[in-house]
Amino acid sequence: DLRNGFDIKRYIRTIPDYPKPGVMFRDITTLLSNLHGFRAAVDELAWPFLKGEIDYVAGIEARGFILGGAVAHNLGRGFIPIRKKGKLPSRVIGQDYALEYGVDTIEMHADAISKGDRVLLVDDLIATGGTAGAAIDLIRKSGGEVVSAAFVIDLPELGGAAKLKAKGVKVHTLVSFE
Ligand code: PRP
Ligand code: HPA
Repeated sequence: DLRNGFDIKRYIRTIPDYPKPGVMFRDITTLLSNLHGFRAAVDELAWPFLKGEIDYVAGIEARGFILGGAVAHNLGRGFIPIRKKGKLPSRVIGQDYALEYGVDTIEMHADAISKGDRVLLVDDLIATGGTAGAAIDLIRKSGGEVVSAAFVIDLPELGGAAKLKAKGVKVHTLVSFE
């Protein structure tokens, strides 16, 4: 399926010990700044959905905005932002999710999605799946159908993709790091 996996992986930079000792941080800024890398990543995220079964692309703040916005443009669909708490101006619905220490909340405009809308969720990376899982809950609360969740990077050892599949969501990822 993946035509450009090599191109994509080689543009992702790994920063050891960020944000804390022992973490190997997969940095996509070097992928985004390379014209071939950025285009390959966006095209690969979008291609399974070119036949038009999507009504909206939803992206998760912050890196999911960059990729999700480009995927929405590529597919000729509108973009819906899912944001950190307190950032959206109109009426919102929210969903808590677990962090390593404590909880956080993401929000979406209450009127962004209507019953039966078919939504593609996009983010840069899936780790534990807490963030994407909360985004899926928000889309479903609005009556939307999550057609698939697409990520550039999967960290399979952290179990996020398996968690989303257990929620009944198809998961599309481009590269994985053990
Ligand atoms: C990162 C990443 C995903 C999420 C994945 O975002 O971009 O959104 O974490 O982790 P999870 O699968 O364990 O939930 P982060 O929370 O660092 O926010 P940012 O994009 O605003 O930096
Ligand atoms: N890179 C970027 N975001 C992340 C990572 C990572 O390695 N792990 C959890 N969120």
